[in-house]
Amino acid sequence: MAAPRNTTDDDITTEVLQRFAQTSDTRLRQIMLSLIGHLHAFVKEVELTEAEWFQAIEILTRAGHLSDDKRQEFILFSDTLGVSMVVDLLNHRKPDGATESTVFGPFHRLNAPEMPYGGNIAPLDKQGPPTLVSGRVLDLGGRPIAGALLDVWQAQTSGLYDSQDPSLHQMHMRGKFHTDAEGRYLVRTVRPVHYPIPSDGPVGAMLRATGRHPWRPAHIHFVVSAEGHEPVTTHIFDSADEYLASDAVFAVKGSLICDFTRHEMAEGEARRLGIIPPYYTTHFDFRLKPASGQTTVLDAQQRLAALGVR
Ligand code: BEZ
Ligand code: FE
Repeated sequence: MAAPRNTTDDDITTEVLQRFAQTSDTRLRQIMLSLIGHLHAFVKEVELTEAEWFQAIEILTRAGHLSDDKRQEFILFSDTLGVSMVVDLLNHRKPDGATESTVFGPFHRLNAPEMPYGGNIAPLDKQGPPTLVSGRVLDLGGRPIAGALLDVWQAQTSGLYDSQDPSLHQMHMRGKFHTDAEGRYLVRTVRPVHYPIPSDGPVGAMLRATGRHPWRPAHIHFVVSAEGHEPVTTHIFDSADEYLASDAVFAVKGSLICDFTRHEMAEGEARRLGIIPPYYTTHFDFRLKPASGQTTVLDAQQRLAALGVR
């Protein structure tokens, strides 16, 4: 066979596509052919210079060097480019009424401590106002799900997660809660704050260079799972937050926004738990759709571990 003559940029694209067309795995072939097509088209459309190409290699190299079990710069890139939310949407189309999902983010850790009903995930946070988050886990018919697992995590009032805070040597602002017989849960915490995503690396440089801010609106993370139901990875957001319309990672959905109500006098659960006013309460019911396969409580954890993020 005659040696290929890559005389034009389109000749090169054609030859690369031909080479990948031999991939026997059909899904891999589809992904590689599409990736090459879009990647080459992008380079040609912007007429990428050699200097820009070297800069891109440097950015990816720095992202690799920065990433470990506590810091994941590639997830940050995916989140800030909006890719995480598109993947999430494609993979978790929910029927009406099911709780919507949103980004997982890079700060989940496995093995959060088990907490009782009303357990306090923020015992070391003395700055934030006490807050009670309550609600139920329900199926799509509105029936309570007993024994559902809620894996909860939140940034401290300082704006840092425990894994970012060298002054902490323990799991803080994390807990695993189970619903009672009526499907109810109660989490004691502090009111969440808005905080900037890590911006001391290439993602921060990209945000600055493109005139974007790094802030995420105040939120609390949940992965909710129950036997026979599809787990949901989501947040609840504070309706009073100034960054709801400009979340750095595009993760806000209207159905996840909650009002945090201020109380000047202790009543009900707050009185029982000895909470000193002023404090806040918010309420959110999670609605899970039935599992398509055999999803169990354990599956949700394994899914998280498979992502390699703690
Ligand atoms: C978070 O909410 O923890 C988060 C999500 C995406 C990027 C950075 C942080
Ligand atoms: Fe967060």
